[in-house]
Amino acid sequence: MKSIQIALDGPAAAGKSTIAKIVAEKLGYIYIDTGAMYRAITLKALNAGIDLASSERTGQLLRNTQIDLQPSEEGQLVFLDGKNVTEDIRSQAVTSAVSLIASHESVRERMVELQQQLASGRGVVMDGRDIGTHVLPNAELKVYMSATVEERARRRYEENTERGFDTPLADLQKEIAARDKMDSEREVSPLRQADDALYLDTTNLTIEQAAADILKLAEERL
Ligand code: C5P
Repeated sequence: MKSIQIALDGPAAAGKSTIAKIVAEKLGYIYIDTGAMYRAITLKALNAGIDLASSERTGQLLRNTQIDLQPSEEGQLVFLDGKNVTEDIRSQAVTSAVSLIASHESVRERMVELQQQLASGRGVVMDGRDIGTHVLPNAELKVYMSATVEERARRRYEENTERGFDTPLADLQKEIAARDKMDSEREVSPLRQADDALYLDTTNLTIEQAAADILKLAEERL
């Protein structure tokens, strides 16, 4: 059976990574969370204390950085220069700064190169913001997933509560809306639905239902 490339894009907290993981596991494909890669370089930039608004400085930092993604029982592990940063990249500081770092052309150029290398010649499910438009323009299946901002904030709130974080729902909604605005309004590869992507509104779908819909679409293309 042939292997295909699946691109899942959409705004923050739309459930992309959870669904991508399920679909990848069912198909025996690798799963690549590109947001985790932008988060990893953001963590390094914050720790290094460099000017986050400088495309040149952050791009230079990335050129001297090793980011590795490894599958594990609990999901994908993220390594930054050999150190496991899977938890650290989910901090509030990283979440607040990541969209600025991701707006730099120097950073995006290198990330796209790395992501294309990771996906090359294999079955892959990749989630992000520009996968269908830039990273995997020839992906056999492109899905743009979204849900209302209220529903996305509610899901993130539940996820945080389970992980022991207590961020007020209203703050989460504000943070998600601000990130979506920055991601959709940036000049370089803004968040948008690719012309040939299918739109999936997950507001009233469970994770299982959304994953089943995507699996069905994938199987039609195998
Ligand atoms: O997917 P996640 O919410 O973890 O992504 C964090 C941030 O990384 C996004 O808000 C966006 O600024 C950036 N990103 C991006 N392009 C991607 C994936 C993520 O710009 N392909």
